[in-house]
Amino acid sequence: MADTVIRNATIIDGTGGPRFTGDVAIEDGHISEVGSSSSRSAIEVDATGLVLAPGFVDVHTHDDGALLQHPDMEFKISQGCTSVVVGNCGFSAIPAVVGKKTLDLSGVDANWTDLEGYRHDVEKVGPAVNAMMLVGHNTIRSLEMGNERRAPRDGELERMREHIGLAMEQGACGFSTGLIYRPGRWSDTEEVLELAKAVAPFDGIYATHMRNENDYLLEAVDEALDIGSKAGVAVQISHHKAAGKRNWGKVKESLAKVDAAIAEGARVTLDVYPYTAGSGPMIQYFDIKNPNPELAQAIQLASCPAFREYEGRMLVDIAAELQITAPEAVRHILTAPDGKQTICIQHTMDEGDILSNLRHDRVMIGSDGIPDLGGRPHPRLYGTFPRVLGRYVREQGILDLESAIRRMTSLSCDVHGLTDRGRIAEGKWADLVLFDPELVVDVASYEDPKRESLGIQNVWVNGQLAFNEGSHTQTGSGKVLRYREH
Ligand code: ZN
Ligand code: CU
Repeated sequence: MADTVIRNATIIDGTGGPRFTGDVAIEDGHISEVGSSSSRSAIEVDATGLVLAPGFVDVHTHDDGALLQHPDMEFKISQGCTSVVVGNCGFSAIPAVVGKKTLDLSGVDANWTDLEGYRHDVEKVGPAVNAMMLVGHNTIRSLEMGNERRAPRDGELERMREHIGLAMEQGACGFSTGLIYRPGRWSDTEEVLELAKAVAPFDGIYATHMRNENDYLLEAVDEALDIGSKAGVAVQISHHKAAGKRNWGKVKESLAKVDAAIAEGARVTLDVYPYTAGSGPMIQYFDIKNPNPELAQAIQLASCPAFREYEGRMLVDIAAELQITAPEAVRHILTAPDGKQTICIQHTMDEGDILSNLRHDRVMIGSDGIPDLGGRPHPRLYGTFPRVLGRYVREQGILDLESAIRRMTSLSCDVHGLTDRGRIAEGKWADLVLFDPELVVDVASYEDPKRESLGIQNVWVNGQLAFNEGSHTQTGSGKVLRYREH
């Protein structure tokens, strides 16, 4: 007897193939039947008029610490996400030193040193969603070299390679860089290549927040593709974008480079979040001695522990009120006690570039949300997936629903080694989302970002109901997955 039968759903199976109507039965965490189910079950769900899809995979997250701090993961499960890839942009919760803060974006107190230890602690709290780990360059470089602005010595490079090897043995899917951030930016191509080679024996991926996403975007794409081809690994370009007005439109040229590389046999994918603003640690974007005035104009404060009253406001308005220049306001904030913990939002991108990304069939969806719930986080944390489905699929017709779902599910699972997930087929894990295609849309805004989206009805994780018509069931059935493990 099935545990749950979802009847009469419009099934979009994640492969990109056309929708069909049918039933899906769940038994022991897996999909046991697809089509017309004669199974009886204690739980019957009438899905007439609703779409049933594989649970969405957020391929670009900084949820390493959130899985422990906010195990309900309400900002993700309410979007229909059932798995998240953590450790992006070169910042991961592993490796770590017991008793010290992790070197990811959340900085939680580590009770582990490696992925096995992290997995144990995360699974103990029972997160609502599954997770897959990338091991971060900034993290391992900080551990071995601090913030040193030089090339690694042989012993240091070897120890960094060992960290990557251990993470891969323990089930990480690859190695990530954040080459605009300290200390990753002090590395040259050679260093990154030597480290990327350490994932090749596992056929892992090289995920990169590239060295430049504005004036030198195309050069940065060349570097990423070059590292992939020399190391013999698949390349995953994070949050593909062109920042700064004079660079708008370059995303097309960048995608053309990717297409050319793929035509030559390279394995390349990308991800995008559907917003024209980015977000990250403010200290990483500015030289405190000489803050970039152009960027300062585009800054909004997300979380600002030093001045909570600034959260949600544009920096230029704060500067006007204080009767100082915008660069002076940057210094005022960053040099205050706790100023270094400020998370900012940068309004620097073009809507047309988002559309180019969404139209490309190697571009997956990733939120890049920063789960600092204290302030006013970038709305992508709560809204990314429903925004693609509502605004770009239903309202604007930029891509069709089947294609959007493929790039939230099967493609994402294939790239990141989430075996037996991302498709609705017998025997696959029952990670599922049921939503109303006429209603689904984000409501989180820059002004009011912590709002759950509309139209997501039910979410199952490993066969357990995690989200039921707006309520979080606290079943905590998520796991820290292992790369390509059945
Ligand atoms: Zn990044
Ligand atoms: Cu990121």
